[in-house]
Amino acid sequence: VGCKTSHFKNPPGPWRLPIIGNLLTIMHDPHLALTSLKQKYGNVMQIHIGTVPVVVLSGFETIYQALVVQGDDFKARPDFYSFRFIGNGKSLTFGKDCGDVWYERKRMAQRALKSFSTSSNPMSLSSCYLETYVTREAELLIDKFIDLMKTAGHFDPYRYIMLSVTNVICAVCFGRTYDYNDKELTELLELNSEFGKNLIFRFTKFIQLIIHDHNQNHEMGNIRDITDKLIAECRMRSQSEYKHKALSNDDITSIVLDIFGAGFDTVSKALSWSLMYLVSNPTIQQKIHAELDAVVGQNRLPKFSDRAQLPYMNAFILEMLRHSSFVPFTIPHSTTRDTNLYGFDIPKGRCVFINQWQVNHDPDLWRDPFIFRPERFITTCGKIDRNLSDKVILFGMGQRKCIGETIGRLEIFLFLAILLQKLEFSVSADVTVDMTPIYGLTMKHRRCDHFKVCARV
Ligand code: HEM
Repeated sequence: VGCKTSHFKNPPGPWRLPIIGNLLTIMHDPHLALTSLKQKYGNVMQIHIGTVPVVVLSGFETIYQALVVQGDDFKARPDFYSFRFIGNGKSLTFGKDCGDVWYERKRMAQRALKSFSTSSNPMSLSSCYLETYVTREAELLIDKFIDLMKTAGHFDPYRYIMLSVTNVICAVCFGRTYDYNDKELTELLELNSEFGKNLIFRFTKFIQLIIHDHNQNHEMGNIRDITDKLIAECRMRSQSEYKHKALSNDDITSIVLDIFGAGFDTVSKALSWSLMYLVSNPTIQQKIHAELDAVVGQNRLPKFSDRAQLPYMNAFILEMLRHSSFVPFTIPHSTTRDTNLYGFDIPKGRCVFINQWQVNHDPDLWRDPFIFRPERFITTCGKIDRNLSDKVILFGMGQRKCIGETIGRLEIFLFLAILLQKLEFSVSADVTVDMTPIYGLTMKHRRCDHFKVCARV
């Protein structure tokens, strides 16, 4: 079945049932099920979801070969029904297009993101916009946690983390932030647990209104945020020889939607997983405190420029990304043409899953992969082991690689450094936190209402 000629060599895979294929095997925790199938069938295997064949790639080298060395062959997205509604099918993340227009949009989104994150902020003493925004939100978050301790004695940090991270991406995209009690934003974020048409519709409406507002108040010499920058590029192009490449309002909406959507959920999950690891590993938290005290002290706030001097904090973040692997698969890929990977034939248009979780728990790469041990990333000279840290994959690789990796990593670092400089986190003595991941495009943990903080000064 599926052979084009007698020489066509399909990747191996498990026996399947008619109609449902291997659905029953991979329905629950597919990252674990596919990791265990990999033991039997290898790094390039094929399963069936219903009647649809899907190639599943595991192993660092194999994934590197496909996404980087043969990157042009594996850079498309499958035409899933659920992807068609995102950004009216024009999403640069989920859309079908992966040619020149897509490439140019991705570059444009990258440039816009850089201008309002890591570029210097002329209005502030911080090193860049992102530092200004994260510092402000982290300080508000500390006040909120201390306040919640005074009123209730314990709390669930998730909602507030999500609002703070959303405010950072709102500042980058729209030049504005929202109050913790803002009805419009909190309702929208409550919806985020459903990845459905309704959510996409509400998000699109929310962003369309902001873009409409920006269009009304746009001044060419005063570019305040990503939305302004995209509108400016769009207006400039519509008057130039690149008229045919001009962006419509719909295009701007879909780019902003892509950045906004990817930017708040992932970083919020990273921070909330970090807090879970900190309260379940008090000794590790103490080591981070000690390092912060020695390098930053209490007389000033941590900054991006402290990052290189805080190897233990960096090792903790790497281990949190590796151990949780909270983005277990990349977004599905698909092939742009007939191709061959390590001797296996893969036809054009084949859906491809990339199992990041497997790489991050591969016993060939990691000693005791299930143990949470930041020290594994620190060399005998006390520096981060770059060879090893490059093996953690959570942002994809190659042409479809995440465009928010730099700012995602910076945000996680600075939020944690500021929170941990001032606070010690714990849970009530009789509580054990449940770290079992709940499967999804991004994995969450069960909410925990028993967090406590204690001020460190
Ligand atoms: C794509 C992970 C933060 C914007 C992706 C992909 C992964 C990922 C796994 C898919 C790669 C693939 O399909 O091969 C993460 C993680 C983050 C993070 C773990 C934080 C810890 C961000 C942030 C932004 C962002 C902060 C924007 C501000 C995007 C975009 C894409 C993407 C636009 C689509 C790229 C494409 O389809 O070509 N990310 N991401 N991400 N990410 Fe991120």
